[in-house]
Amino acid sequence: MDFEEAAEKILAKSKVKPTIGLILGSGLGYLTGQFEDAISVDYGEIESFPRSTVEGHRGRFVVGRLSGEAVIAMDGRFHFYEGHAIQDVVKPIYIFKEMGIERLIVTNAAGGINRSFIPGDIVAITDVINFSFNNPLIGPNKEEYGVRFPDMSSVIDREWLKKVERISKSADIDMKQGTYIFVTGPSYETPAEIKAYESFGADMVGMSTVPELIAASHCKIKALAFSCITNMASGILDKKLDHHEVVETAQKVRSKFSKIVTIALNA
Ligand code: 6GU
Repeated sequence: MDFEEAAEKILAKSKVKPTIGLILGSGLGYLTGQFEDAISVDYGEIESFPRSTVEGHRGRFVVGRLSGEAVIAMDGRFHFYEGHAIQDVVKPIYIFKEMGIERLIVTNAAGGINRSFIPGDIVAITDVINFSFNNPLIGPNKEEYGVRFPDMSSVIDREWLKKVERISKSADIDMKQGTYIFVTGPSYETPAEIKAYESFGADMVGMSTVPELIAASHCKIKALAFSCITNMASGILDKKLDHHEVVETAQKVRSKFSKIVTIALNA
């Protein structure tokens, strides 16, 4: 099944024609429960699609209306650390493109490197560092989507982000900004690695989002991305990292997180 067929299969089920794509990371999957006119398509129904393996990450597309906008969400995403080819991780982006999606919002959980961040902060990603020694565009270029050597100077849409910044400020919602560094995981970083990433200019670290942003930029989908700082990165505090803490913090701040996502949807 190619991207076009997959897009048709999903659209055929839905009354709503989505224009915005959402990739919901840790803690925000519940937002799909608020969709009006919702339909869902399990990833299992899409041939040649990778299977999601992480606990707490469901595997389905949900199409519907959220805050008045026609959206398609990925409830559960594919991570490189699960063992998927990096080219598979970004397949949903090209399905979105075939559907006519013009804008994308990505969320994730991340470890804080910037010492002015605290767990529970929501940070708008302003730029990214791909530190995975990998790239989802490796392989034959699909010219119908984009060029062989795509510019990456605006993986994040500045104008859209400006609007979100203005609206969240006037609504008195605290939103920080920073550079996200993508590493493969699944092991968390050593203190020496975090010290190095800090010197690179990274404000937070995580194991997702950047492949999707590279693919979206390649096929000219405008994107925004937001991190929930679930914990400080290794060596920033004298504390060990624990996945349960990541999930717990993401749960605690999900209402603030979803407010910002809603602002982005409507901006
Ligand atoms: Cl500290 N590191 C990475 N790589 N991913 C994370 C994280 C840290 N905290 C949440 N996700």
